[in-house]
Amino acid sequence: MDEKKIQKIDRQIEQFLIRDKDADDYKVRGDVFDKATLKILYKFANKGVITAMGGVISTGKEANVFHAIGQEDEELAIKIYRLATSNFKAMQDYLLGDPRFSSIKTDKRSIVFAWTKKEFRNLKRSCEVGIPAPSPIVSEKNILIMKFIGKDGVGAPRLKDIGLDLCEPEANFDKISGYVVDLYNKAGLVHGDLSEFNILYMDGPILIDMGQAVTLDHPMAEEFLKRDIKNLIRFFKKLGVKCDEEEVMERVKAKNSASERVPLYENDS
Ligand SMILES: Nc1ncnc2c1ncn2[C@@H]1O[C@H](COP(=O)(O)OP(=O)(O)O)[C@@H](O)[C@H]1O
Ligand SMILES: [Mg+2]
Repeated sequence: MDEKKIQKIDRQIEQFLIRDKDADDYKVRGDVFDKATLKILYKFANKGVITAMGGVISTGKEANVFHAIGQEDEELAIKIYRLATSNFKAMQDYLLGDPRFSSIKTDKRSIVFAWTKKEFRNLKRSCEVGIPAPSPIVSEKNILIMKFIGKDGVGAPRLKDIGLDLCEPEANFDKISGYVVDLYNKAGLVHGDLSEFNILYMDGPILIDMGQAVTLDHPMAEEFLKRDIKNLIRFFKKLGVKCDEEEVMERVKAKNSASERVPLYENDS
């Protein structure tokens, strides 16, 4: 990428910092754009992975999500986990029993970095087995770059935002339960935070936010699965869908064939 383009991104990041300076997003500046994080963003700009930075899409508890433009003018979502305020103790609990992360260090930074990598891999596995999720492009340290779900900088709504206006609730419930079944049986994962907050809707439901998703070896995998299903049922019952936890659980277990599962290490870069 040429010098001019890099300077442009430089200015965009600068502006971005200034824009957020006096809102309560002042924190964004200190917590998210620490020097090391900026350095990685510049590196991605340098490589041409990011060609323009957009605005903030979301400021969550653990991470902030930004809009950006990629090499081929495609829209990107950049999720940046905060190093300063992440609840790394809770994160650590979600890494338990995961053979992919059995030997990571236990200091705060290493845990946040492992978490970011974990989300990258979980999204990748989901996409590989055909579950609609934002395909991940690259991750480094606390930064995850993925495909943007939405158009022209406007993110797709969450099921929470659509609420009672969701069309074909039965069919959508069926689709999402199918994703839970496939996530478990084909990807060997339990989402762990599945609810109307972490499902976007664009031409159908799309699962997001997979940092906490655990492998089936996790001591709480079954509990998390039950909780995910419960959340789903609670939401869809409000939309008048006749559904029941046991039934979905049966669907998950009926299909429980390890043979279908993508091995944990294969394709798991
Ligand atoms: N790939 C994406 N495309 C569009 N919007 C996204 C994407 N990923 C996240 N978002 C938006 O950012 C919000 C927070 O992202 P999420 O991954 O759920 O992080 P958190 O851990 O903060 O809940 C989502 O509710 C969604 O609106
Ligand atoms: Mg979320």
